[in-house]
Amino acid sequence: MSVQFPPSAAPRSAYPVDVLPARLRRLLLHLASAGTPVSAYVYDGEVAAERARELRAALPGWAAVHYAVKANSFPGVVAALAPHVDGFEVASRAELDLALSARPTADRPGREAAATRSSAPAPVAAAAMRRSAPAPVVAAGPAKSPPFLAALIRARVEAINAESLLELHRISAIAVAEGVRARVTLRVNPASIPVTGSLRMGGVPSQFGVAEPDVPDVLRAAARLPGLDLVGFHVHAASGNLDADAHAAYLRWCVEWSTRTARACGVDLRLVDVGGGIGVAFEGEKPFDVARFGELAAQVEPPPGVRVLLEPGRYLVADCGWYAAEAIDVKTSYGASYVLIRGGINHFQLPTSWDIVHNMAVLPVEDWPEDCPRPALTDTEVTVTGELCTPEDTLLRDVRVDRVRAGDIVVFPYAGSYGWEFAMHRFLGHPVAERHLL
Ligand SMILES: Cc1ncc(COP(=O)(O)O)c(C=O)c1O
Repeated sequence: MSVQFPPSAAPRSAYPVDVLPARLRRLLLHLASAGTPVSAYVYDGEVAAERARELRAALPGWAAVHYAVKANSFPGVVAALAPHVDGFEVASRAELDLALSARPTADRPGREAAATRSSAPAPVAAAAMRRSAPAPVVAAGPAKSPPFLAALIRARVEAINAESLLELHRISAIAVAEGVRARVTLRVNPASIPVTGSLRMGGVPSQFGVAEPDVPDVLRAAARLPGLDLVGFHVHAASGNLDADAHAAYLRWCVEWSTRTARACGVDLRLVDVGGGIGVAFEGEKPFDVARFGELAAQVEPPPGVRVLLEPGRYLVADCGWYAAEAIDVKTSYGASYVLIRGGINHFQLPTSWDIVHNMAVLPVEDWPEDCPRPALTDTEVTVTGELCTPEDTLLRDVRVDRVRAGDIVVFPYAGSYGWEFAMHRFLGHPVAERHLL
């Protein structure tokens, strides 16, 4: 149940080397000079911070931006984002610990208002409210284990996006045992979201959330659970969306549906979490228009006191990262040319598993042992493969390069999201890709 966009058209030519910032080139050449074949992710935290600033600045005051840590959990990137986001979205205990230690510091007036507006009447909740404001963290993800739920409740996170009735029961039981009421949003799998024109989302069976027709029954059951403070709803139904109009229509739908449902079912609505899903443009695609999204979002009117929370991952960090790997070998086979690099899908799985065409640049490295012939491919189309014993280990096909030699470094921009985190580093047991902050 996500907006499906076609994979980008295959690139004709590799990027010129000057698309790589000079600082990045210097760092990679420095790594290459150390003698160990390069395989590394490099991140520029300032680029991620700029994306967060742009998005927050475009959005109305009732909107909050929580960075989805799963997209890139490198501590340096999370720390760089912390001053520019309202909080984090986490999906595991490790992400929770990281988010709690990073502590977002962006000015967030709406958050404080929402935190003190809880209608929680129980004495335990009143006691909890007397303590400081909740941690600026929301948690989502199917099949949350009881120990993870307990950690979330003890951390007093802003909201746990509950995925099922059983999860609500578990949260309530843990919260009662802890002497608190846990703030919860119900994750909904909508039946149908008209976004723009003929485009619709939703209505697809999935393991995520509660199917829309089942929501009233689940809310009735939740109302009887003493450990819950049901603050609103969560929908995460978009993915890789480059259409600002469609995303604003999606946000509007989430707010209006939540308002209607809360009224009909007696929920004291305080939070509408619209999930992530803002896309990043690859080859030949038109980038997401943040300013237009902000303008259209500003026309939505959530009820007073209701915060709307966005959980972008990819959008904030995709272009802050590069994946770089040394060409261990270059060769031809029956007329086709190959560049074999130190770390293919074991380090950078995204291009193959999500069908994204990730173009590359070739960074020339001049150091080469004098006593060894240096193979080179010039002015030809190459396929870039890795070091695994499977033809699946292919990152890019048929891209024209001016020249690539064994020992040069192949660099993939836009590798900051779902790169290192999404890879299967242990398959075959090669050394794991390094991570560096510029
Ligand atoms: C619940 C939830 N929120 C946010 C995100 C981030 O999505 P994106 O990186 O597309 O913005 C995800 C991604 O899987 C998710 O599952």
